[in-house]
Amino acid sequence: MGLFSSSTNSIPEVLQVPRHIAVIMDGNGRWAKKRFLPRIAGHKVGVETVRTMIKHCVDIGVEYLTLFAFSSENWRRPPEEVSFLMGLFMEALKKEVTKLHKNNVRFMMIGDRTRFNDALCAEILAAEHLTAKNSGLTLTIAANYGGRWDLLQAVNAMQKANPNLIGCYTEEHLTPHLSMYFAPEPDLFIRTGGEKRISNFLLWQLAYSELYFTDTLWPDFDDDAFKLAIQSYQQRERRFGRTSEQLANT
Ligand code: IPE
Ligand code: IPE
Ligand code: MG
Repeated sequence: MGLFSSSTNSIPEVLQVPRHIAVIMDGNGRWAKKRFLPRIAGHKVGVETVRTMIKHCVDIGVEYLTLFAFSSENWRRPPEEVSFLMGLFMEALKKEVTKLHKNNVRFMMIGDRTRFNDALCAEILAAEHLTAKNSGLTLTIAANYGGRWDLLQAVNAMQKANPNLIGCYTEEHLTPHLSMYFAPEPDLFIRTGGEKRISNFLLWQLAYSELYFTDTLWPDFDDDAFKLAIQSYQQRERRFGRTSEQLANT
């Protein structure tokens, strides 16, 4: 059994403030290009935006914030950019984790860690360990994450755990093995940078999330941009398969 109910098995509670926001932080490269700067300059400023995003979420009472930092397909980028991003991740962890801990933030990482070097793996584990008992915002960084990777590793783990049930698996067997078993499904999905696609992010969990796409580039995603996203979310009618009339009667 997963910790949280599934949007396809039962109707989730809908709150004014999204409990879980998942973000594809896109547009760093274009932000830099517009300023005649190298792409990596955009990634650097992007880290600042992560900091303000965390603050906004804490301020309005979001419980889970999940940020897509590096996809399983981002290894296809030039090697210099990949190693810069890995370095930036390491640096940000070293610099920020104590502050996160002081602010009662629980840090988690999802994604395939086997391609990370030992130092980075150790840093991630230490951060998760230090903050494991915190009861404030759960901040999850998706790094070397891919939705298909996640589903496949979960299917394999599920089969290993229940070899006698082949052919009879249900959601309840699968979901405990998905990387985000510890969080409810995202209420709100945000993608900055103008593209309208999921890019292999949380494929299973986004089934009933409200999708919000903005042209704002990630380094420009400020307080006002955040408020617009929340306002848009608050205007949605989350029907989960039902009719408007049914909702009016509940
Ligand atoms: C998102 O910004 C950051 C990562 C994918 C790591 P991009 O680097 O994709 O920026 P654009 O899309 O090229 O502008
Ligand atoms: C998605 O951004 C992944 C992250 C933000 C980490 P990309 O910039 O890699 O996505 P595509 O390639 O344009 O779909
Ligand atoms: Mg991009």
